[in-house]
Amino acid sequence: MTEHGKMTARLDFTGTKVFVTGGTRGIGRAIALEFAKSGATVAVNFLRNREAAQETINELNEFGEGHIAVKGNVADPAKVQRMYDQIREAWGELNVLISNAASGVLKPAMEMTWKHLHWTMDINAGAILPLSQGAVALMPEGRPGKIVAVSSLGATRALPNYFAVGASKGALESMVRHLMYELAPLGINVNAVSAGVVDTEALTHFPNREEMLGEGLAKTPSGRLTTPLDVANSVMFLCSRYATQIHGQTIVIDGGSSVVA
Ligand SMILES: NC(=O)c1ccc[n+]([C@@H]2O[C@H](COP(=O)([O-])OP(=O)(O)OC[C@H]3O[C@@H](n4cnc5c(N)ncnc54)[C@H](OP(=O)(O)O)[C@@H]3O)[C@@H](O)[C@H]2O)c1
Repeated sequence: MTEHGKMTARLDFTGTKVFVTGGTRGIGRAIALEFAKSGATVAVNFLRNREAAQETINELNEFGEGHIAVKGNVADPAKVQRMYDQIREAWGELNVLISNAASGVLKPAMEMTWKHLHWTMDINAGAILPLSQGAVALMPEGRPGKIVAVSSLGATRALPNYFAVGASKGALESMVRHLMYELAPLGINVNAVSAGVVDTEALTHFPNREEMLGEGLAKTPSGRLTTPLDVANSVMFLCSRYATQIHGQTIVIDGGSSVVA
């Protein structure tokens, strides 16, 4: 049943192996759960919060077997390789990578250090390189592979305190297009989703959280804020057979807020 009370057919991802970075909280967790509900086997990555990882695995297990949690910083290529070693040991292959984990320093540019900038760029943008290389190495030839990166509206717009995170998301969207150029010929779709304001724990790090939520809602023509499930549904669509000719795009999921003048 949907939230509107109607029966709907689910996309079927039975037999699909999915790796979701930052898959234990917020948007990543919603993506992991939707894939599991649709028959996929999921590996969720996390960095520090083992309790949230265990809770997510418990929930995933309600929809099938074989799900795993893999710990590691996506900005450390050696740790990324170690996570792929665990995935190879568990499943032998991978079909879908969702590059969702993000972090970053939220500060005005005039207060930011070089280290803050590079730390943010490495996690939010640079990580897509070892993540994609490791994923492609595990994708079986002759079966379509999918890579979806999770971006934000700060990639193309100016927001307070978003100097480093916005730049990292802009770089991420460009990397998605360039990865697409190399991977589309191999039958791998590379795309991004860009979400409007979503009320997750990440927002507690913003000094202006309440203002963001209030303004976000007021400026959204659909009349409600974007939810983790809205983002998960779009990711599922991009990974489905209905989106096989979509390559190198960034799909915006924001209830229309970004096109309002
Ligand atoms: N929330 C929004 O309004 C919004 C809007 C647009 C786009 N987005 C994007 O959506 C994605 C998810 O955001 P969210 O709000 O769901 O975040 P969140 O609730 O803060 O969850 C972040 C997840 O990423 C993991 N993580 C953080 N840094 C990591 C690292 N270096 N290596 C590996 N894992 C790491 C965390 O693991 P631990 O639990 O171990 O810390 C956690 O599982 C991000 O790409 C974000 O930019 C969010």
